[in-house]
Amino acid sequence: MDVQHLPVLLAESLELLAPDRGGVYVDATVGLGGHAAALLERAPGARLVGIDQDPAALARAAERLAPFGDRVRLVAGNFFRLRELLAGAGIGQVAGVLADLGVSSLQLETAERGFSFRRDGPLDMRMGPGDLSAADVVNEYAEGELEKIFRDYGEERQARRIARAIVGARAREPLHTTGELKSLIDRVKGREPGGREGRVDPATRVFQALRIEVNRELAGLEGFLEQAVRLLEDEGRLVVISYHSLEDRIVKNTLRDLARGQVDLVTGRPHAESQLIEVLTRKPVRPSEDEVDSNPRSRSGRLRAARRLSAP
Ligand SMILES: C[S@@+](CC[C@H](N)C(=O)[O-])C[C@H]1O[C@@H](n2cnc3c(N)ncnc32)[C@H](O)[C@@H]1O
Repeated sequence: MDVQHLPVLLAESLELLAPDRGGVYVDATVGLGGHAAALLERAPGARLVGIDQDPAALARAAERLAPFGDRVRLVAGNFFRLRELLAGAGIGQVAGVLADLGVSSLQLETAERGFSFRRDGPLDMRMGPGDLSAADVVNEYAEGELEKIFRDYGEERQARRIARAIVGARAREPLHTTGELKSLIDRVKGREPGGREGRVDPATRVFQALRIEVNRELAGLEGFLEQAVRLLEDEGRLVVISYHSLEDRIVKNTLRDLARGQVDLVTGRPHAESQLIEVLTRKPVRPSEDEVDSNPRSRSGRLRAARRLSAP
């Protein structure tokens, strides 16, 4: 399938990663290789390790990044194990880490992956080789658990009603497809199937929540950010793009804590050696109107960046 993925906040990411310094950069979510290719083109002295948990994405990245030859190394795995994945590739410290979180256009637009309510497909939603699928969650989780996931991960106001409707429906027949789940949500929310709630489809929040649960997207994020910061050499850069407020909150709070360091209980001041980074983005960087017009997927993107401080 010829899916194009336009890299989000590309100019801003490169500016903050500052790859002209050269060295090894990690793209922890290499996807279809959009950010990675631009980085390698811009900075001839940079090498890149590209990580993704999705073998289909890595295959596409390999094609796209082939012209850069041995400046690129691709590694399959979950970035929650960043340190281990890099150690396996013989890499200790790095000049920069980029994470462009969430799903790629390839995943969204491949109906069989089951990420999109716009394309009928099996309720899957696994980004990598995990065991749990969206069908398992929808058909096996208790009503209260479903409600909690929809509320916590989807910020869905009708979480209880949707959870109850799913449990009622699956008692007759398990839900197998994205289309079945979408029609159920449309019915509960009182919309015509395919109808819109302003610009956001009524199914958006539940689908987001299921994807987060299936891929445990929030659980390892803080640990990943901490590993990334510790792997950075002096002046190394971390750039993270997130697409929903739950993710962005974790990024914001974790970077703030790593910048603040540990406070001395006696003096009340932070230990300088525990202040690992300076946050470079007081507010998240958002895409311009032009970018949103040409790439609607960028609409919810928020970028935060940090610089590794030298040891005192
Ligand atoms: C938004 S896309 C990245 C697109 C890429 N920046 C580009 O320009 O082509 C996110 C990618 O990150 C991958 N991903 C998401 N969470 C991951 C994780 N925890 N570990 C490894 N890869 C992950 C997804 O499989 C997907 O391919």
